[in-house]
Amino acid sequence: MKPVEIKPGVYWVGAIDWNLRYFHGYLTPRGTSYNAYLIMDDKITLVDNVKHHLCDEMLSRIKQVVDPAQIDYMIVNHVELDHSGSLPKMMELMPKAKVVTSPQGKKGLIRYFKKEWDFMVVNSGEDLNIGSRTLKFVHVPMVHWPDSMVTYIPDDKLLLPNDAFGQHIGSAERFDDQIGWDIIHEEACTYYANIVLPYGDNVLKALDVVGQLDIDMVAPSHGVIWRTYLDKIIPVYRRWAGNETDPKALIVYDTMWDSTRRIALALQDGLEEAGVPVTVRFLQTSHISEIMTDLLTARGILIGSPTINNGMLPSVSSFLTYIKGLRPKKRIGLAFGSYGWGGQGAKEVAAAIKTMGWETPVDFINMQYLPDEQELGTAKEAGIKLGEAIKAG
Ligand code: FEO
Repeated sequence: MKPVEIKPGVYWVGAIDWNLRYFHGYLTPRGTSYNAYLIMDDKITLVDNVKHHLCDEMLSRIKQVVDPAQIDYMIVNHVELDHSGSLPKMMELMPKAKVVTSPQGKKGLIRYFKKEWDFMVVNSGEDLNIGSRTLKFVHVPMVHWPDSMVTYIPDDKLLLPNDAFGQHIGSAERFDDQIGWDIIHEEACTYYANIVLPYGDNVLKALDVVGQLDIDMVAPSHGVIWRTYLDKIIPVYRRWAGNETDPKALIVYDTMWDSTRRIALALQDGLEEAGVPVTVRFLQTSHISEIMTDLLTARGILIGSPTINNGMLPSVSSFLTYIKGLRPKKRIGLAFGSYGWGGQGAKEVAAAIKTMGWETPVDFINMQYLPDEQELGTAKEAGIKLGEAIKAG
């Protein structure tokens, strides 16, 4: 459990959560890491810490560089417990450390831990000289919580942005080029879609600030450190934050007696005939957090449910609740479904799509019992029409 020197005098001293598979509603098949950084200077500084159960792992790394009692500053960029959970134990081992955080950070830490530590509240743009380096703090509220801030070290061209630019990857590798773009891009995409997506406007503001900084390394609080693919990930983040999509479609459905599935496939046929690539996800086999990865850049979102008990299937309702919270914008939607009588399932999906403000150039589709060839032809025609709208953007 060695520390890793990422810049001269700056050490990664975080912890790897190899076994994490579920992170507030989001599946994490690769586990994750909680990244903390130790800066050795006249004033020794620790930036962020780790989930409480991995405190000893972080400590073992810190102790290979310095006695924790020598640490002068504990910077808390973000209150969420994956980055502050070890604070009570660490503060006992760092008796002279001041806790440097945003005003909201101080409030949050006091609410969580009920401790009156020696706080140093910093405003956005404020500097802190620690010897040969001057740290700069920039508040980035709602990336991820109201307290969130980033720490920038101009002397090292190093940005420590906490949750931003993270990926849930637990690995022995610490740097992006040691894993490769394809895996990191996919994990960054899943992370963005499930965690950061609602805060796109704030991300764009933060990217404007980041764009003015001289940076050659971005070391987030989860996953690997960006040093080689920075020029690739920053424009991608800007696209995601702006809800920019590709002319492709995502069909998400559940089915009871196969009718809704048949409609889904007819819609797929139509979309493909219009020249639109389609991803099809069945809610009984795909987790909603995995589907978000597909949804992030899909312009057309088609959601299908049969009717049960005067409403939609609970699996579809769960998915809609999740995406309403994540607030994807600038999409083209279509509800579809089947019923025996009543037909409220697809109607409820259509109402949910409307509340999300998506365009709906094609009326929702609702078919009784098992759709026949003619009805499936109608669904295919709807798919073609929707495909044309998706291509037109
Ligand atoms: Fe990784 Fe918002 O905590």
